[in-house]
Amino acid sequence: MSDYPVRMDIHPEVQAFFDEGTNTISYIVRDPTSNACAIVDSVMDIDYAAGRIMHDHADELIRQVGADNLDLQWIIETHVHADHLSAAPYIQERLGGKIGIGANIQVVQNTFGKVFNEGTEFSRDGSQFDRLFEDGDSYMIGNMPAFAIFTPGHTPACMVHVVGDAAFVGDTLFMPDGGSARADFPGGDAATLYDSIQKVLSLPDQMRLFMCHDYAPNGRAIRWESTVADEKAHNIHVGGGKTKDEFVKFRTERDATLGMPRLIIPSLQVNMRAGEVPTDKDGRPMLKVPINGL
Ligand SMILES: [Fe+2]
Repeated sequence: MSDYPVRMDIHPEVQAFFDEGTNTISYIVRDPTSNACAIVDSVMDIDYAAGRIMHDHADELIRQVGADNLDLQWIIETHVHADHLSAAPYIQERLGGKIGIGANIQVVQNTFGKVFNEGTEFSRDGSQFDRLFEDGDSYMIGNMPAFAIFTPGHTPACMVHVVGDAAFVGDTLFMPDGGSARADFPGGDAATLYDSIQKVLSLPDQMRLFMCHDYAPNGRAIRWESTVADEKAHNIHVGGGKTKDEFVKFRTERDATLGMPRLIIPSLQVNMRAGEVPTDKDGRPMLKVPINGL
C-alpha cells in the first residue's frame, strides 16, 4: 500500500447526485484551487420496457458543471456497471473531458463480446475509452493528483479512484450496513474481492470513501459516504476482522440467491462501449437480448 501516492492534505469538494431509478450515486469532484473537476460514474436513464433512453440525470450533472463554470477534465468509470448505463459520451460531447476506466476492460469486452455475439466490428482493446488505468496510475484534476487502485473481484476491471483524501470505491464496498457487492458476475471472484477490499481498508483511517450504490438497508435514509475507519470497524461483511474464509463462504452463498440486475442486458452492451449505444447494420440504435446467454 505504501507505494500508492496518498495525499491526505488535499481536500477535493465532492458533490453527490443520487439516481433513484438505479440507486447509483454520481459525483462531481472539484479542485478547490482551480475550476477543474471530474465526474465519477454518471448515469444515463433508460426505460427498458419501452426501449427509451433519456438524459435527465446526466443533464443535472451538466447543468451543475455549467452553473459553476467548471472545467470537466475527467469522466471516470469505476467499472463496467451491470445495473445502470453510463452517460460518459453524452457528457463528453457537451463538456469535454477524457473517459477513463481500468485497463482490464479488455477482459470484460472479450467476455461480453462473446455473450452478445458482437463480431469483429466490436473492438476489444479498450479503444472506446480515452485512458486505460493500470494499478497505481496517476493523473491530475487541475492541481489535484489522483490515482487508481486495481480492485478486481466484483468485476475484472474494477478500480478505486483516490483524489486527495477522497476515494471513489465503485462497487468494491458499500456503506458499513450494506456490506459488499456481489462477486458472481463473469470474471468476478469472492476471494479476489476480499483481497481488493483489504487494499482499500489499508488506506489511511480518515480517508473519505464514496459509494457508487446505496440501497438504504433497514429503512434508513440513503447514504453514500463513510471512512476507512468506519468500514474497518463496522462493515457487516468485512469489518471487525472477518476472515477471508468467512467472507468467501458468506459471499458465495448470498450470491447464489441473487437474481440478475434488472438492467444488466442493456447496461453491459452500452457500458462495454464506454457508454455508446450499439447500432444495427443500418446504423439505428439497437440492443440485443441473448437467450440463456448470461
Ligand atoms: Fe457494479
